[in-house]
Amino acid sequence: MKLEIYESEEALAQTLASTIAAAIRAHPNIVLGLPTGRTPLALYRALVALTREEHLDWSGVRTFNLDEFVGLGDRAVGSYHRFMHENLFDHVSVRPEHIGFLDGRSPDVDAECERYERAIAQAGGIDLMVLGIGANGHIGFNEPCDVLPARTHRVVLEEPTRAANARWFGGNMSAVPRAALSMGMATILNAREVVLMATGEGKVDAVREMMTGGITTELPASFLQLHPRVTVMLDEAAAAGLQA
Ligand code: PGA
Repeated sequence: MKLEIYESEEALAQTLASTIAAAIRAHPNIVLGLPTGRTPLALYRALVALTREEHLDWSGVRTFNLDEFVGLGDRAVGSYHRFMHENLFDHVSVRPEHIGFLDGRSPDVDAECERYERAIAQAGGIDLMVLGIGANGHIGFNEPCDVLPARTHRVVLEEPTRAANARWFGGNMSAVPRAALSMGMATILNAREVVLMATGEGKVDAVREMMTGGITTELPASFLQLHPRVTVMLDEAAAAGLQA
């Protein structure tokens, strides 16, 4: 895994935004895999600013988000759909029909997961997958467990993950759904290139284990060691465990 350490979250976000903007210019039909959460907020701010300054054309870009809460979709409070529209999609020229999302409200979860896998395949696969990492080492909503489903699936969320998400529900943890739909590890590892961002001291242990520990379902991000083109972008706080 290629490691890059930045002096601040802002510097990291600026660099990655420039990389993504350059990739869109070079490949106007690029397929992006996108995350939600606190970490990508600075990235999306920087991307929106760059898009404005450089008149970046998103009309050929396709996107697939990593995950969504079961029961939520569209603009529902706390939904990742809403997060993405508010923080990125409403501010760039991506076509609505090019935005791929799991529908957490689907009555047939298995069919919805299969549809998503087919949609990614029909788009030609994901060119650049952007990831955050949970403090417990999850990516997407692939939580630590004994057996990781390979493909897009329904997952029961861990309590710390629900607590970390309460901020999207006005701080009310009881409003956070107990389950989600998520790309699986094989879906993620099939991307041609992966960038994982981590910022802040809360990610120190997860980052260290991901990069220096063995490959284990107890730390799903460790599977990224199997991918030939992964860049790990850290701020100094998240990298502290590596320098020790
Ligand atoms: P965070 O979440 O960016 O809100 O810390 C990252 C993740 O859980 O993947």
